[in-house]
Amino acid sequence: MTRRQTSHGPRHTSGPDIVEPAPPLSPREIFKRFWPHARPYRWFIWLTLPFIVLAPAIDTARIWLFKVLVDEVLVPREFGPFWWIALSYVGLTLLAAALVVGDSYLAKWVGGKFVLSLRTLLFRHLQGLSLDFFERRPLGDMISRLTSDVAAIESFVLSGVGNTLAYVLRIVYFAGALFYIQWVLALMSLIVAPLFWFVPRHFARVIRHASREKRRRSGSISSVAEESFSNAQVVQAYNRQDAEIDRFERENLGNFEAHMMSARAKALSAPLVSLFGVTCGLMVIGIGIWMLSEGRLTLGELLVFLSFLGSLYSPIRGLGQLGTSIYAASAAAERIAEFLDEQPSVLDRPTSRSLKLVRGLIEFENVCFRYPRVPQNALTDVTFRVEPGETLALVGPSGAGKSTIAKLLSRFYDPTGGAIRLDSHDLRDLRLHALREHIAVLLQEALVFDATVRENIAYGRPNATDEEIVRAAKAADAHEFIAALPNGYETVVGQKGRRLSGGQRQRIAIARAMIRDAPILILDEPTSDLDPESGHRILEPLRRLMSGRTTIIISHNLITVREATTILVLKEGRVIEQGTHVDLVTRDGTYAALYRLCQDHDAATTISWSALGPRRQVAP
Ligand SMILES: Nc1ncnc2c1ncn2[C@@H]1O[C@H](COP(=O)(O)OP(=O)(O)OP(=O)(O)O)[C@@H](O)[C@H]1O
Ligand SMILES: [Mg+2]
Repeated sequence: MTRRQTSHGPRHTSGPDIVEPAPPLSPREIFKRFWPHARPYRWFIWLTLPFIVLAPAIDTARIWLFKVLVDEVLVPREFGPFWWIALSYVGLTLLAAALVVGDSYLAKWVGGKFVLSLRTLLFRHLQGLSLDFFERRPLGDMISRLTSDVAAIESFVLSGVGNTLAYVLRIVYFAGALFYIQWVLALMSLIVAPLFWFVPRHFARVIRHASREKRRRSGSISSVAEESFSNAQVVQAYNRQDAEIDRFERENLGNFEAHMMSARAKALSAPLVSLFGVTCGLMVIGIGIWMLSEGRLTLGELLVFLSFLGSLYSPIRGLGQLGTSIYAASAAAERIAEFLDEQPSVLDRPTSRSLKLVRGLIEFENVCFRYPRVPQNALTDVTFRVEPGETLALVGPSGAGKSTIAKLLSRFYDPTGGAIRLDSHDLRDLRLHALREHIAVLLQEALVFDATVRENIAYGRPNATDEEIVRAAKAADAHEFIAALPNGYETVVGQKGRRLSGGQRQRIAIARAMIRDAPILILDEPTSDLDPESGHRILEPLRRLMSGRTTIIISHNLITVREATTILVLKEGRVIEQGTHVDLVTRDGTYAALYRLCQDHDAATTISWSALGPRRQVAP
């Protein structure tokens, strides 16, 4: 058994691995895991069984007809039987062709169905995983597994079983015919048969390793391409095209070397195999001629013996090579299995319940949080309480943990310590789906889909009517610019909304949050991408949105912050100040200092943390 090979392939492709190798599995384990997915298609094996059984039988009969032709027509020079031999031959050929057509069509259908269902299953599984998985895995590699790796497994499960059966049957039929013709000769010629099997096996280790490397590299290739293209603007602005090409080429080179590694193994094994074949064939011819002269074999029998022998080698070799295609498929299967083994880090408990009506009381109690695989805490001992309908403003320098609080409240992660409660229920006791039904989020990055403006707004509530969509757009101060778009609400915004400006994207995201009409609102810098004037204009719609809902707003806009019921000042994951605007100003701490700085700058409405930094750039 091949154990885990830790060397990650070609040496001179330096740098960290973009895609880590998947944990290795033995073919038996893989079969055990994926065969159940083929369960709905097992009937196919039974249905194709007649094809698999009949096809080699027809081949045997066709070869046998050749013997009849030699012994009954050619040697006695008699034309009589020729017609029925010819007719049978044509008949058998037609039958064989029909079988091949039926069999390959069925195999394609079933293989396609299997891939379809496994791919959907994998996609559904990935949709169920928590955010940390998506923050950890390169996108291109995920797509590569979802597309080409899934397709590669098919040959393992269904066609693999079919082919094995077909090869075995062919061997049984042809070997049977050999023994029927001349058992001594048959025994002698089959002595070398096991070699056909051992030679490829000898190279299996290399081929297996190469297969894994190939799959891993194709994941890396997709990852580099995906990242490079989606960051095209940065690549071009910084003239990094050549570096990107290098990176891409490096991964391709790794893939190429893996290909060559398996090609070398295959190329070495092929001549060895044919050498055995030729030696064996010559030996049989020699002994056969002797038997012919002794009268123990007719000419037709000898010819047909050689013919069967020749046909026998191909399924034997096929069986040997099946090993290599199984390795290729299992390398793909390992990558799929790795994803299927991923469990969501945030899970519903069996006892989780859903809340029909939510008042919107939010409590954080001594919440600590550390991102997976990160040594230090992102949040330490965060405690606060927001009464229903009130607004909590989170302020603090970049990296203080504001967005992290928002993520915890939507339960993208569970806190590592302490508790978060909604209406006095611990979030972990609520059904995830139900919890998120009650929350509308506006993310720091306004994410939109490559769809129409209407669809993007309706994403917040799929059954929203057209009037509701327009109302939400108007409230988000987006109606005007949407109406001016070439196709109005039907304009397609491009992938990631690239055809819109940052502010326009943000207003669509606000409209999406508005239409959701949820009792809890999380706004992560709703005005950050807007110019001061639009930012100002959006304040009124935001106020309307926030009224009557429990809101957590992360903002650098002083007006918004000042109006909040409570202000929480965060620094390095800790709450350093907490209170109303008036409280905090009179307390004369960090917030008061910031506020005073803004006041000094007359019209300034944006809190500037850098001004408080160690090097004061702003003159008092
Ligand atoms: N997915 C993640 N994995 C690991 N660490 C993370 C992740 N997201 C954020 N962090 C870290 O957690 C800390 C808090 O990040 P957070 O996004 O909450 O900051 P923030 O206050 O929202 O900052 P900003 O104002 O810049 O948006 C940072 O040190 C950041 O590096
Ligand atoms: Mg943030």
